[in-house]
Amino acid sequence: MGKKIKVGVVGVGNCFAGLVQGIEYYRQNPERKVTGIMNEKMAGYSIHDVEIVSAFDVSKRKVGKRLDQAIYAYPNMVDWIELPKMETVVSPAPVLDGVGHYVKDMIDPIKDATEDELKDMIIDELKRSKTEIIISYLPVGSQKAAEFWANMCLETKTAFINCMPVFIASNPVWEKKFKKAKVPAIGDDIKGQIGATITHRVLAKMFTDRGVIVDDTYQLNVGGNTDFKNMLERSRLESKEISKTNSVQSQLSKPLPKDKIHIGPSDYVEFLKNTKIAFMRLRGHQWGDRPLNLEVKLEVDDKSNSGGIAIDAIRAAKIALDRGLGGSLYSASAYLMKTPPKQFRDETAKQMLEDFVSGKRND
Ligand SMILES: NC(=O)c1ccc[n+]([C@@H]2O[C@H](COP(=O)([O-])OP(=O)(O)OC[C@H]3O[C@@H](n4cnc5c(N)ncnc54)[C@H](O)[C@@H]3O)[C@@H](O)[C@H]2O)c1
Repeated sequence: MGKKIKVGVVGVGNCFAGLVQGIEYYRQNPERKVTGIMNEKMAGYSIHDVEIVSAFDVSKRKVGKRLDQAIYAYPNMVDWIELPKMETVVSPAPVLDGVGHYVKDMIDPIKDATEDELKDMIIDELKRSKTEIIISYLPVGSQKAAEFWANMCLETKTAFINCMPVFIASNPVWEKKFKKAKVPAIGDDIKGQIGATITHRVLAKMFTDRGVIVDDTYQLNVGGNTDFKNMLERSRLESKEISKTNSVQSQLSKPLPKDKIHIGPSDYVEFLKNTKIAFMRLRGHQWGDRPLNLEVKLEVDDKSNSGGIAIDAIRAAKIALDRGLGGSLYSASAYLMKTPPKQFRDETAKQMLEDFVSGKRND
């Protein structure tokens, strides 16, 4: 058995529930091939080496509960498998800007202790639990909360994986701080295994590679979980839209003007629950300026989609810790995240990450 990877989570929501229930599913069904990860072993680490040793949230329904209970608490809706009893208990986190207008009643946040009181408790908990890596699944629009946790990681020398679209690993100011503190960071905004972004990127690149000029393109997404409900609040969406749009723009030979590309979550449809439906259209012109129109609809379990990617990010962060590396990890961020510090074509990014794992590169 490999060494354990001690992980703490911020935001015990649906994505995290999918990550943990997926690990348990493969534990109970060892004959099933694990799908959605790069390799069964990454530098010797398997999915079963991931241990969740600390957890932080703001919901009255989750704080103070054992993790295996909190994961099923309303409004979470991932219920694939029963979890065994887990020792980890969910600790309180500062609410800051984490709870949006439309989901406030569903989350039912704890009354805030002061940020400073919570800060000391959090540092103690990270130390007590020997957390090595924090994975953040904060809601879209939580700029202050994301920065709070980035600072917690710097202060406690805990690696940071930022799965949500606030720019930390990709922001040169934060990148410098992580480098100086010798703390690894991977981010920002996790990709899906086959999600709307990767599908849209592949199609955009196909147009580019085949010499078709893209004239305009859209991607409209709908879903029925709290992530989508939260995103009804347009003011929380700015960085999400930038993250998704730039991820596609990076695959075109020439970025489209702003008014020719529209990418964003578009609506909340309650009965869809964790099913996400993405509608994509790319219009372009080819030989003789004749028009071309490609339309695609993707229907996917949104919470199964990022589980394997998160596992790879956790293992990459652990490799960085083992090697004493700090700063934004370019290879893991480029392959696993929508907004890395530097965008690369997907096949290049994959090779970079393989080279990182095998020790040929250190970023
Ligand atoms: N495939 C995907 O699902 C995918 C892909 C890319 C990015 N993301 C991002 O991952 C994030 C999490 O998604 P989700 O579906 O799990 O959301 P969710 O709404 O199910 O979970 C968010 C959790 O964060 C908690 N929370 C709110 N404010 C907090 C705070 N200040 N401190 C600590 N916890 C707080 C909530 O109580 C809730 O438990 C979102 O930002 C989403 O956009 C998801």
